[in-house]
Amino acid sequence: MNNTPLYERIERSLTERKSQSMFRSVKTFSDRQSIDLSTNSYLALHDNVQILDDARSLTGTTVCGNLASRLVAEHSSLYQMLEHEIADWEKTESALVFSSGYAANVGIIQAICTRDTEVYCDRLNHASIYDGIALSGCKLIRYRHNDMADLQSRLSLSHAKEKLIITDTVFSMDGDRAPLADIVELAQKYCATVMVDEAHATGIFGQDGSGLVEATGTQDHIDIRMGTLSKALAGLGGYFAGTKLLRDYFVNFSRSFVYSTGLPHASLAFTLATIRYIRKHPGLGQSLLTKASTLREKIQMAGYSTLDSSTQIIPCIVKSKDEALLLSDFLKNQGITAPAIRPPTVPEGLSRIRISCHLGLTENDEQTVIDLLKQWKKSHE
Ligand SMILES: Cc1ncc(COP(=O)(O)O)c(C=O)c1O
Repeated sequence: MNNTPLYERIERSLTERKSQSMFRSVKTFSDRQSIDLSTNSYLALHDNVQILDDARSLTGTTVCGNLASRLVAEHSSLYQMLEHEIADWEKTESALVFSSGYAANVGIIQAICTRDTEVYCDRLNHASIYDGIALSGCKLIRYRHNDMADLQSRLSLSHAKEKLIITDTVFSMDGDRAPLADIVELAQKYCATVMVDEAHATGIFGQDGSGLVEATGTQDHIDIRMGTLSKALAGLGGYFAGTKLLRDYFVNFSRSFVYSTGLPHASLAFTLATIRYIRKHPGLGQSLLTKASTLREKIQMAGYSTLDSSTQIIPCIVKSKDEALLLSDFLKNQGITAPAIRPPTVPEGLSRIRISCHLGLTENDEQTVIDLLKQWKKSHE
């Protein structure tokens, strides 16, 4: 049945993507390249021996899946321990673990927003936030990236009773930070609720490493904190941290929570061990940020714009989509994994190599990367 109108439309859109250098494909597994600039395991904890040992003892003899939605049956004793640990870390009354960060965003937003809710959304927020908004049917109001004047002017025109401001705290492609104190101030002025996505900040910012909310002291003014267990924590899952009332609400109304199977026991053990490790080793996040700041300066000195990055995520801007692909291939041939990021993930004209700085990079690795970036620049000016 590959001659139906639907099938033909699908073929056309793939052909179009290919002709625009926007075709994506799943990477096949290969032995790890010698230098990995693509990983979200920012603290390099995925193969930390101490964590693996701790996770093994937490796992006991069970590694299997949860085997049902958590509302049907909870098969892992570790859920409670993990949620307790997250709530303690985030200094909130409670926490709720979802199957992924994506599922957390979609489930939280779909549950709390109705057609009458206005959602003020930073233009560069993650796709899962937009998908939650679409699913909820609420009114989407996008404001310019990190532009508080734009946010204020939009809020000031509103007659809606329910307003929700949503922002990533660290932006996944640009590596800059949201001005949380300013957002909170505007929220108070216009009586809006605030939700933040800490995906790329969890484990890195703050004395205790819980995220940018902790680092900026905005805990008391942000009702909905969402994070992932899949980046610096190197595991799988997403979470909400906040009041018990909201947790109860999500357990009852978040469709991605209610209608999906829980995580495997082994996976819960790994992230629980990772959070405990991070809390026992304060300063890991700060070391990462210091390392990233030096690397970013060197990339700039090699002639690349890094936009407003001030975190471990360093965009390295090139002239076109094709150039991003070519540079990524050039690096790959030298044993370096560095993904090309192109529209529609980023705006037209801002194609890039996304460099993820992490604690697994050695000084030699960094020097190799910088030398190659310089070499590329010289031959493409
Ligand atoms: C800002 C942000 N939020 C949410 C997610 C989704 O998290 P997960 O990969 O755990 O589904 C991502 C993943 O890339 C992200 O970058």
